[in-house]
Amino acid sequence: MKILDQPEDSSPAISYAGLIEKIEILRSTLRWSSRLERADIEKLLRQASTLRDEVMQMSHKERFVQAAATADPEGQADLSRAARREALLARSFIFEGTFGDNPKLLEALEIAEKAAPTDLPVLIDGESGTGKELMAKVIHANGGRADKPFISVNCGAIPENLLESELFGHRKGAFTGAVGDRKGKFESAHTGTIFLDEIGELPLPGQVKLLRVLEAHEIQRVGSDEPIAVDTRIVAATNRNLRKLSEQGIFREDLFYRLSVIHVTLPPLRERRDEIPLLFSYFGDEAAGMLKRRPVRLTPRLRDFLLTYAYPGNIRELRNVMYRISCLAGDIADIEHLPLDVRPVEHMPSAAAAAFAPPMNGEAGGVSNLLSLSDAKRAASDEAEKAFLQRGLREVGGTVAELARRVDMNRSHLQMLLKKHGLHSKDFRHPQPARGVVHKSNVNDADDGEADAL
Ligand SMILES: Nc1ncnc2c1ncn2[C@@H]1O[C@H](COP(=O)(O)OP(=O)(O)OP(=O)(O)O)[C@@H](O)[C@H]1O
Ligand SMILES: [Mg+2]
Repeated sequence: MKILDQPEDSSPAISYAGLIEKIEILRSTLRWSSRLERADIEKLLRQASTLRDEVMQMSHKERFVQAAATADPEGQADLSRAARREALLARSFIFEGTFGDNPKLLEALEIAEKAAPTDLPVLIDGESGTGKELMAKVIHANGGRADKPFISVNCGAIPENLLESELFGHRKGAFTGAVGDRKGKFESAHTGTIFLDEIGELPLPGQVKLLRVLEAHEIQRVGSDEPIAVDTRIVAATNRNLRKLSEQGIFREDLFYRLSVIHVTLPPLRERRDEIPLLFSYFGDEAAGMLKRRPVRLTPRLRDFLLTYAYPGNIRELRNVMYRISCLAGDIADIEHLPLDVRPVEHMPSAAAAAFAPPMNGEAGGVSNLLSLSDAKRAASDEAEKAFLQRGLREVGGTVAELARRVDMNRSHLQMLLKKHGLHSKDFRHPQPARGVVHKSNVNDADDGEADAL
């Protein structure tokens, strides 16, 4: 069995030919072996995992190259950036889907690369949606604990009275409701990484206990005196300024220094605007793959608008916008496919615009003159519904029965919705095929004509 004898660490130089050869060997091993021992199965699994990682790395590299080529057809990209990115790739750095080549992001990735193999605590800060959790995964994936658990805890989401039990576990009967022994997140993350998200929200008593774990590397379950040794790498994240919080006495200064041995700051998207075109291509491709469609194209006015938009929700918001327009638009997306609160006011439907527009000078009555919040929500939801139906009808060439089947909706309900929005299936019919050719969608034409009249 050739594959079982392959060296386990893969060569850093990955090529398609090399990958195909490995896959072929793996296939023939499986085809010809009548019986495999457990140890052999484990070995094959490890080799399959290595192959998967290599494919992921390659596809990531391809995406980088393709997207960069689309955004910079003249090949004028900043060479030093390209060189830094390439260097990370060449050192087999695992990006975990982190995309972009802005110097500030590259700097964060380079710090992550150096920090990953150590067990030093890392503090990641940055605004919401800048990729803090993703960066924590990058650090985990590039370290020696990559195949061990990565446990994420949102410190802001745990009620104060449950915090200790969530983090450190409890013994049966420790408090009302503790019906059995339970492991906490630290024990679950033993030998791996614990990601303490929104660490700035951790109340002071929790901070004291966390400090103890950092110092002694052991925990005690609630209701037990027995110390349990934990070997857990700590990565914490916050969108608040911990230094300021500690000056205000809200966050313990000693904990801040313990957590921030390595400090990574992720820049907001408005400080890496140069990446926006690349991110359009990247998330446009990703959304197209997920939605099984061709990547959406943007009209020049939508593109111009999105290039200057402020993105308060950072990369998460840009990603959501690309997924939304990929879902709602046909081949080409325009301003009308944007969510209402993102859209420039002059492009909002009149009812919704009233809700978002600033009051006119001297306008009497203030908000009482405007649409109510629920009316504004209804207008937005109606509009999304209409755009969804239009796109669906376009895709099925106006065949209502087919659309009902694809969106798993009762046909008469769908007819009602079409009527509500004044949509006529015949307006979406594909051009008639040449005479003598029977096109499948024609079979339903009469059907839909009748439905239209409903
Ligand atoms: N550089 C990047 N390349 C590709 N995707 C990214 C990048 N940064 C963030 N994302 C994506 O954006 C989304 C938000 O990222 P993430 O959850 O890591 O942000 P966050 O800073 O933890 O946000 P929050 O503070 O709101 O929790 C995720 O879908 C993530 O995959
Ligand atoms: Mg987060």
